[in-house]
Amino acid sequence: MTFISQNELNTIRSNVSIVDVISSYVPLTQKGKNFFGVCPFHEDHSPSMSVSEEKQIYKCFSCGATGNVFTFVENYLNVSFAEAAIILAEKAGLALHWDLPTKRKVKYQEEYDLMDLTLRFYQNNLQTEEGEKARDYLKERGLLEDTIKEFSIGLSLSNHLFYTLFSKKGYKDSLLQDLGLITKSKEQVYDVFQNRIMFPIHDLEGHVVGFTARCYLFDMTPKYLNTRETYLFKKGSILFNYHRAKETIRIHKQVIVVEGNMDAIRLSSVGIKNVVALMGTSLTREQMEALKKLRSQVILMLDNDTAGETATFQVGNLLEENSIPFSVVRLSGEKDPDAYVLKNGAAAILENVKNAISFLDFKLNYLKKNKNLQDASDLADYIKAVLQSLKNNSDTILKEVTLQKLANDYNISYAVLKEQLGNEEVTKKVVFKEKSQEVKKMKSTYEKLCEEILYYMMHDVVFIKLYQTKLGIFPTKEHRLIANEILYYYETNKDIQLADFITYAETTAMYTFIMDILSSIEEKELTESAMLELIRRLKKKMKEQEIEKLKIELKKELDENKKTALALKIVEIKGSVSDEDY
Ligand code: CTP
Ligand code: MN
Repeated sequence: MTFISQNELNTIRSNVSIVDVISSYVPLTQKGKNFFGVCPFHEDHSPSMSVSEEKQIYKCFSCGATGNVFTFVENYLNVSFAEAAIILAEKAGLALHWDLPTKRKVKYQEEYDLMDLTLRFYQNNLQTEEGEKARDYLKERGLLEDTIKEFSIGLSLSNHLFYTLFSKKGYKDSLLQDLGLITKSKEQVYDVFQNRIMFPIHDLEGHVVGFTARCYLFDMTPKYLNTRETYLFKKGSILFNYHRAKETIRIHKQVIVVEGNMDAIRLSSVGIKNVVALMGTSLTREQMEALKKLRSQVILMLDNDTAGETATFQVGNLLEENSIPFSVVRLSGEKDPDAYVLKNGAAAILENVKNAISFLDFKLNYLKKNKNLQDASDLADYIKAVLQSLKNNSDTILKEVTLQKLANDYNISYAVLKEQLGNEEVTKKVVFKEKSQEVKKMKSTYEKLCEEILYYMMHDVVFIKLYQTKLGIFPTKEHRLIANEILYYYETNKDIQLADFITYAETTAMYTFIMDILSSIEEKELTESAMLELIRRLKKKMKEQEIEKLKIELKKELDENKKTALALKIVEIKGSVSDEDY
């Protein structure tokens, strides 16, 4: 396999201009040093994305999207990193001297290979004599041979066959354990998955990173056993079937979101391929980002039970807050999309999709639940709840129509409703402001200082050197890990430029963290004296924390000599705080 090295990537990157590339997709206008355009990564009409020719990065002030020319092309065209690199190499007129398909050096290659092998082991089990009951079960559920193949469905058996075979193959216990495939207790080693139908779970790029395993011989708790969280398998950042579906989704500009993996498999097996599953009922921030990347209309099609209804309300609110366009389908009669297709067929699902309702309509209904609208106080609660949810809606016409409808249906003065909504919206703005301050507050001054310093370091060697000579180490682990990545990058490349560092960061475990820092810190001129001031403040903070710790110890200490020693130490640290100068 051939890889594109970091050097080659940097060559590609420095041979294209980010302004040229982005402006070939989005119109940009120059204002001062930077260029501005409408950000394609969230619903917007005003030019909130700035593109810096000097730094070769883009950044949206509104949604926080940021990155270099590779990440822009990846996200805008929804292509893999390798594809983005090829597209840009072509734009730059660079000869591709590596073989296609290109693959970047993959950090977890050994792990991915092992997971693939594990998958094949399970698939093979399903075809053996011991697999008969499992095959019957799948047949019973109406899963055809083709579907079983397409979704790589397999089977785990008893007697720790997996461990026996894989340790013979030379795989270390520690690796098998780290990937959540075996467990150890004292001297015993167990297969985590036994006697279950195995459904592989892929990450967004399509690597097998875990399994969800269903009982089939008899009922077991849990019904589905999932791989525990490992450094490969992070359930919250995965959408089941995403890697298979993303092409179709891109073409349809529509993605159906269901709850269970079986729902996704079923829809896909009857030709409705633009489907992903949450694997449960909540939606995490990472899953939200993945959905956003698809830049498609979401059709929320959760289970037909109370949990599914509540989840529709909650997930819907999240989608709305994140400006992801979506509508809602509530299937009736069957418990979930899987059962619905089995009973009514694919056409019936498509009909439901066609008739999907707006979230507002869903809420108008949902909020009526458990309320007797003949009762004055219930009715008042209902109206308040509706107004409450209207305030998140930016569609003024829809708001008007709803207010009219409420006024007519419940014989309430339109003017009163309108006034009340106005009040709600004022409160909303205040609440929203408080909320965003809260989010910022959640990061302590301590963290913010560390992040600012890291931000500087990603920009210039000068700041890395200042860090090395004046600070040397961060007090917290995450910040240390990021600093290590920066130092590693600097040592291997003898230089650092933010735009190239971002390319590298994408291959590290700290990527999300790094991008969060880049998008949360405002653009500014970076100077050595400002960085020194940050370091000074961080050191001061560190000392203050040390003093706090000592004070607590002092309070608890009974021994007079030790008390004196502690008190002296506090005085000493206090003295050094004010003496600090550079
Ligand atoms: N789930 C889970 N652990 C459980 C139960 C459910 O992780 N103990 C997740 C699974 O990803 C499952 C989804 O939640 O696909 C939805 O659960 P449920 O509706 O109970 O499963 P179904 O999709 O209906 O599965 P089946 O038809 O096989 O019973
Ligand atoms: Mn279900």
